Amino acid sequence: MQTELSRKLGVEYAVFGFTPFPAVAAAISRAGGFGVLGAVRYTAPDDLKRDLDWIEAHVDGKPYGLDVVMPAKKVEGVTEADVEAMIPEGHRQFVKDTLAQYGVPELAEGEASGWRITGWMEEVARTQLDVAFDYPIRLLANALGSPPADVIDRAHEQDVLVAALAGSARHARKHADAGIDIVVAQGYEAGGHTGEIASMVLTPEVVDAVAPLPVLAAGGIGSGQQIAAAFALGAQGVWLGSLWLTTTEAELPSPRLIEKLLAAGSGDTVRSRALTGKPARQLRTEWTDAWDDPQGPGALPMPLQGLLVADAVSRIQKYEVEPLLGTPVGQIVGRMTSERSVQAVFDDLTRGFERAVDRVNRIAGRSEEQ
Ligand SMILES: Cc1cc2nc3c(=O)[nH]c(=O)nc-3n(C[C@H](O)[C@H](O)[C@H](O)COP(=O)(O)O)c2cc1C
Repeated sequence: MQTELSRKLGVEYAVFGFTPFPAVAAAISRAGGFGVLGAVRYTAPDDLKRDLDWIEAHVDGKPYGLDVVMPAKKVEGVTEADVEAMIPEGHRQFVKDTLAQYGVPELAEGEASGWRITGWMEEVARTQLDVAFDYPIRLLANALGSPPADVIDRAHEQDVLVAALAGSARHARKHADAGIDIVVAQGYEAGGHTGEIASMVLTPEVVDAVAPLPVLAAGGIGSGQQIAAAFALGAQGVWLGSLWLTTTEAELPSPRLIEKLLAAGSGDTVRSRALTGKPARQLRTEWTDAWDDPQGPGALPMPLQGLLVADAVSRIQKYEVEPLLGTPVGQIVGRMTSERSVQAVFDDLTRGFERAVDRVNRIAGRSEEQ
């Protein structure tokens, strides 16, 4: 499973794994793929340092990368407090009433909300980069558009490849014009923020739009057969996010959430603005239903919604309030039916890939035992 890109990065499999968990990122790279640590949750540079040190110590010298959520446009002089002040009182009341309706307890006095995510603010993302560039990362990915030009230049000076996620061919062309090295074409079925075009349609469109730049197919990939399909569509690799959530190395905050993921079918997700204000695919819950209900106040735009619901999401997770408990995850959740190690997932992916290639070879008349 080698492509020009996997050879350039020195990995055995052109399988890129996005994950918020350092242990998963290291395990993906150790298994022969390319682990990418999501940095959006790191507000304190020392926490990121600690986790990159950990990865360095556990990655057996294999390459890995970092993913930031840097806004394409900088909003000058707006602080977190300014953003907080823009949240309407009616929306705050709606959060209170919904939590009260389900009897969700308060966080303890002084307990910080784990979901208060500020990594989307350019200043915070830049502190993450200052830390990360001291480590031998081989790839820097950005979720919210192309990184600013000076960040792309800095990465290139350090021999770091730059990737950006795109949900349309137009978006992908913008990235190519900005001088990035890899486009991650992320389809509608993916977990997290997504556009409206499914991977089957999006991948070849993006491949054609940015050729000869390498494209990674993302969204809905959870088997070797799907990896083979992505290569057939012109991708130079695949980028998986959801599948790692139920690995034994993942550190999901709640056992009940793991159970919910293992039980969920491919129809149990929804693309909702409930979490961040932008459409993000996640488990459908009574919390997403409340925000998507036309009778309710509706979600606020990003970044207001994220700040509005941060404490609430932390409380729901801490107290495992079943009907409200959710997480970003893609439609591939339907295939995530048991907890397995990252290595076991890789073994399954490579076996499935070989089966798919054999099958296609037979159909094409290239196999010896036809
Ligand atoms: C829990 C979760 C969190 C995510 N957070 C980010 C993020 O911070 N940055 C990013 O670039 N992509 C993020 N994504 C999207 C992934 O990078 C990836 O594109 C997506 O998961 C691929 O589709 P799949 O979920 O079908 O594998 C997230 C996905 C999940 C499931």
